[in-house]
Amino acid sequence: MPGAPRATDGLDAARVSWSVDGRLVLDGVDCTAPPGAVSGLLGPNGSGKSTLLRVLAGVRVPDPAPGRDAAHVRFADADLLALPRRRRARVLALVEQDATTDLPLTVLDAVLLGRIPHRSLLAGDSAADRDVAAAALARVGMSAFAGREVATLSGGERQRVHLARALAQEPALLLLDEPTNHLDIAAQLDTMRVLRDLAGDGVTVLAALHDLNLAAQTCDHVVVIADGRVVAAGDVHDVLVPDVLDPVYGVRCEVLTHPRTGRPVLVFDSSD
Ligand SMILES: Nc1ncnc2c1ncn2[C@@H]1O[C@H](COP(=O)(O)OP(=O)(O)OP(=O)(O)O)[C@@H](O)[C@H]1O
Ligand SMILES: [Mg+2]
Repeated sequence: MPGAPRATDGLDAARVSWSVDGRLVLDGVDCTAPPGAVSGLLGPNGSGKSTLLRVLAGVRVPDPAPGRDAAHVRFADADLLALPRRRRARVLALVEQDATTDLPLTVLDAVLLGRIPHRSLLAGDSAADRDVAAAALARVGMSAFAGREVATLSGGERQRVHLARALAQEPALLLLDEPTNHLDIAAQLDTMRVLRDLAGDGVTVLAALHDLNLAAQTCDHVVVIADGRVVAAGDVHDVLVPDVLDPVYGVRCEVLTHPRTGRPVLVFDSSD
């Protein structure tokens, strides 16, 4: 079908393992994220979400797999594991969990860092770069903070600036590690709306999230990991169910239906 995205246009990672100190943190993870959609990466603390995002982003190298098929991480036509760093940074952006900076940067300068992969090595910021950075700040509602030092921002403000920096990178694949964890409820919804809008523009989004209800209301696709393995993946209606969630989180969950959206609404009890 002309113009329709091919099945391979999204993110496709297979057999990703990563160990540290002899401990297998990711154990043969297969993870896909459909193109132009918001996918949620879910799982308990320590299950391997941040590690997986770092491997997908090329920050961590997956374990070699002697005698077996090697891991691959593909996005559209690109083999992300083989791409040189600068080229990879033109394709994907990673917003890390609790990213901090000690550099004495203004908010605008921090967002302009996202333009570096797009310009020649010795060039400074162009007017076009500053326009992109200003638009990114506007998109996350942080224009009024452009001149502030990043170090003086609140946790939630800083988190939105990190998102703006990633947006200024104009990635086709956006990876986010708990992008809402410092945000008030309105700011959480704003951020998820930004992610939905980006997906509407064709960006493939994969976000690690702890709030299962936020995932249920926002995501097109979810991947649940536990102990470094994928437990379930697919549509929120199929995956956010007691059979999957109760054993993974050690809770009892009930699924209601949102009266307006028809999406799942989850309520939880401890399993005792
Ligand atoms: N460099 C490292 N050295 C030792 N252990 C590590 C290292 N990186 C990750 N781990 C361990 O791997 C496991 C997975 O960590 P990871 O940060 O990926 O979990 P997570 O799912 O993102 O958890 P959270 O929800 O708490 O952010 C944890 O037990 C963590 O302690
Ligand atoms: Mg994490």
